[in-house]
Amino acid sequence: MLPLVAILCPREFKFTDHDASVERPFLADVAELRTVWLDYDRPFPEEVLEAHALILWHGPQVTPAVIARLRQCRAIIRNGVGFDSVDTAAAARAGIPVCNVPDYGTEEVADHALALTLALYRQILPLDAEAKQLGWKIAVAPKMRRLRHQTFGIIGLGRIGTATALRAKAFGFRVVFHDPYVPPGTHKAVGIERVDSLSELLAVADTVSIHCPLTAETRGLIGEREIAAMKPGAFLINTARGDIVRKAPVFAALRSGHLGGAGLDVVENEPLRTPEEAATPNLICTCHAAFCSPEGMVEMRSTSARIARAAVLGQPVWNRVN
Ligand code: NAI
Repeated sequence: MLPLVAILCPREFKFTDHDASVERPFLADVAELRTVWLDYDRPFPEEVLEAHALILWHGPQVTPAVIARLRQCRAIIRNGVGFDSVDTAAAARAGIPVCNVPDYGTEEVADHALALTLALYRQILPLDAEAKQLGWKIAVAPKMRRLRHQTFGIIGLGRIGTATALRAKAFGFRVVFHDPYVPPGTHKAVGIERVDSLSELLAVADTVSIHCPLTAETRGLIGEREIAAMKPGAFLINTARGDIVRKAPVFAALRSGHLGGAGLDVVENEPLRTPEEAATPNLICTCHAAFCSPEGMVEMRSTSARIARAAVLGQPVWNRVN
């Protein structure tokens, strides 16, 4: 009997295919491949616990209790960058490598961050709505800002943060960043400025764009105090993880006008929950979709399948995060 590779997919997900057509060519000769559709709140089915490798779409939570019940798993692979849905320490204690696919969407997410930023600076959505009322006055003209010499602040200068910095530079922004973990001199290589603290970044940035991972340290990193410390009229962009930013103070600051706009691909306790949230002024929201492109999907799924192949063959895996 061939070892089992299970692809775990939330039931409401529509954009993966039942036949695993991308993964199959990498695995069919060495493993049985099964897509398992899960309800969020239900325990993992028995068949999953027998798998030799798990490929996880966004959603399924691999807790210490789940890990304790995995009988012969050789790798847990996150089909994506963020791996906050897996208890990596518990997996390490159980001797199970956790891997991710860190690079499939770097350009897409950076493009998305700039798309949200430009939509706010150039007031694309209000102008679109006004134009479609057939006749226009350009009511938002005073809100449309020149980009050059505006300061673009990046929190987290990793892959996506760096790709975003380069794009923001190309549009003429002065780019600053805060990231306590990148080595000295990184800013010189990229041609941007480093600030010493988050509070310094918040004080100088006209746009704050978040690109750090969700960790115990970054959960709620941007809360009421940090929003209050941002420049009046500043824009907030989040394409990282919703739980890094407390949504109540952001929505309150958009309503009061303290924030000039927010572009959120991710929100705390996503998706948006009420019509009032959805009607918040100067809010652009997308559906945790910054990573999306057919090209990126194929790259991501191929990488996960190649790692799963190595795992079932007993070969070294890569992109290990624990
Ligand atoms: P990365 O690991 O290359 O970069 C993350 C950077 O954040 C690192 O340089 C790290 O030093 C920094 N960092 C960590 N803690 C920090 C803190 N407390 N303050 C400031 N900086 C901190 O990750 P990458 O590839 O750039 O991805 C970033 C995040 O983007 C991912 O963790 C993921 O959550 C999110 N993401 C969102 C997607 C979407 O569709 N919206 C798709 C892909 C990633």
